[in-house]
Amino acid sequence: MTVAGIPRWDAARLAAWSEPLLARVESALSGWVGVDAPVQLGDAMRYAVLDGGKRLRPLLVLAASEAVDGDADAALRAACAVELIHAYSLVHDDLPCMDNDVLRRGKPTVHVKFGEADALLAGDALQALAFELLTPDGTGISPVVQASLCRLLARAAGSQGMAGGQAIDLASVGLALSEAELRNMHRLKTGALLQGSVEMGAACGRGVAPVTLAALRDYGAAVGLAFQVVDDILDVTADSATLGKTAGKDAASDKPTYVSLLGLDGARAEARRLLAQALDALERSELADTGALRALAHMVVDRDR
Ligand code: IPE
Ligand code: IPE
Ligand code: MG
Ligand code: MG
Ligand code: MG
Repeated sequence: MTVAGIPRWDAARLAAWSEPLLARVESALSGWVGVDAPVQLGDAMRYAVLDGGKRLRPLLVLAASEAVDGDADAALRAACAVELIHAYSLVHDDLPCMDNDVLRRGKPTVHVKFGEADALLAGDALQALAFELLTPDGTGISPVVQASLCRLLARAAGSQGMAGGQAIDLASVGLALSEAELRNMHRLKTGALLQGSVEMGAACGRGVAPVTLAALRDYGAAVGLAFQVVDDILDVTADSATLGKTAGKDAASDKPTYVSLLGLDGARAEARRLLAQALDALERSELADTGALRALAHMVVDRDR
């Protein structure tokens, strides 16, 4: 698919763009997470965050920030902060009181390895650290940018976002949701943090035009929902070794998903429709270079893990 005659990035182009950024994110996370935490809390935090995960949310932050010529230091902090919230959400999502999963990122889950109390606390501490990273002392990041980043992340993570969506997810076990209800649950539990990642990247820029901000928000919403639709599909089609988490859990736990509602073909069609929506939004964005954002949208829908 080309946009306005510009060819789509291939896998090599995406890797060449993302690898140095991912190295920077890994090294920053390693320097920040769990350092000096007492007893085994630091180990649990580092175990939850380091050496695993696709790091899609950091890449969305960094791609959006680059597209608006954003402050690179702010963007790196935002990229790490959103990954910390994501990692915390996974630790809690896997607890016995939620999805009761034993495998995550190819390893035993945090509560299996460290116990439930430390898993709970590691999640709490990762969430707090995310906001500490966004409000550093003695850097050039303007207080206005720091405050916007905090507000965007808080909204994406809280009762109007991830935590609210997780509450709906738990309350929906065994229910046949309508498409509108399912869409709302997925937008909140997963879409909000991905959309928030894009918005945080955009917030690292100065004087970004309202039309660009609106287009990036729409792009983030479409990619965010597509991501959970594909997560539902992969739960059915992929194996545990590829996913690094236990496959087949949604049906076993009687969770309403895009596959249970629309079937595999219907869910795949929905993911493609959302990809087209995301690409359309980029065409309206008035951004000079949307190559990385387009490639990430394709990656979300075409991924196999
Ligand atoms: C899994 O997210 C949880 C969902 C929100 C669907 P990812 O598939 O991004 O997990 P990692 O970070 O790559 O492990
Ligand atoms: C989780 O959705 C969304 C979160 C907020 C963590 P899932 O429960 O489907 O995520 P996985 O499949 O366990 O990664
Ligand atoms: Mg869950
Ligand atoms: Mg889960
Ligand atoms: Mg899932």
